Amino acid sequence: MNQLTGKVAVITGAGSGIGAAIARLFAREGAAVALLDLHEDTCRDVAAECAESGADTSVHAVDVTDSDGMQAAMAAVVTEHGGIDILVNSAGILDETPFLEMSPDTFDRTVAVDLKGVYLGCRWAAPAMVERGGGRIVNIASQLGIKGGVGLAHYTAAKAGVIGFTKSLALELAPHGILANVIAPGPIVTPLIEGLSLDWKTAKQEELPIGRFGRADEVAPTALLLVSSPGGDLYTGQTLGPNSGDVMP
Ligand SMILES: NC(=O)c1ccc[n+]([C@@H]2O[C@H](COP(=O)([O-])OP(=O)(O)OC[C@H]3O[C@@H](n4cnc5c(N)ncnc54)[C@H](O)[C@@H]3O)[C@@H](O)[C@H]2O)c1
Repeated sequence: MNQLTGKVAVITGAGSGIGAAIARLFAREGAAVALLDLHEDTCRDVAAECAESGADTSVHAVDVTDSDGMQAAMAAVVTEHGGIDILVNSAGILDETPFLEMSPDTFDRTVAVDLKGVYLGCRWAAPAMVERGGGRIVNIASQLGIKGGVGLAHYTAAKAGVIGFTKSLALELAPHGILANVIAPGPIVTPLIEGLSLDWKTAKQEELPIGRFGRADEVAPTALLLVSSPGGDLYTGQTLGPNSGDVMP
């Protein structure tokens, strides 16, 4: 408890799933949490749960693909909470589209949210961390970015991009005391995968050494490890895989 007392954490995609679970856990650990999402209403519900732990909270309705909006949201967090120590980029979208039917627009939209959104979060939060003398960045990719997936060329391209992007950030921001890492979860029961076919889910579950999909609250402790001290102090440029054994890099 209280591993994040005095810290300010920004979490994108905080209105649902993995982002919401991370926000709840960080709040329980004493952080002030700024919740960013397209959907203000769901974020407000998560913020209310975080406030029950005694956390300061703020909600920012923003599209992670909107550079001006993201810059303004980060500025609002600094004004409201005094700075930024932690950024978790969890906002993401996923759909199954066979490659031979994949339109350039479909590809662009997924890359815009799942990769460019991560870049924009980092781009507009990192200066506040530099000002603070350090910080922690956790970008949520996917184990599919390592192994690929049928019908998921757009998603896996974006997620592999997040892994490469984060390695460069780790190299470039280390002199500023900023550590940047990736979490690449396996299948986690959240609204994101509700739309995937039953065939895919059944086959996937049978492949997993652990034999079941994970829950969002089983991913959040990996984020806590990466942003806490001393637990996370030696991790940068790494990809951690709470993935039920799906990928063993
Ligand atoms: N659930 C899984 O099996 C799984 C596995 C591996 C990786 N991931 C990744 O974890 C992250 C979180 O996924 P989740 O399962 O919690 O999904 P989710 O659908 O439960 O939550 C995603 C959140 O992102 C928000 N969002 C979507 N587009 C946005 C945009 N343009 N701007 C701002 N917010 C936006 C949504 O409103 C939602 O609240 C995603 O990056 C996803 O790719 C999920």
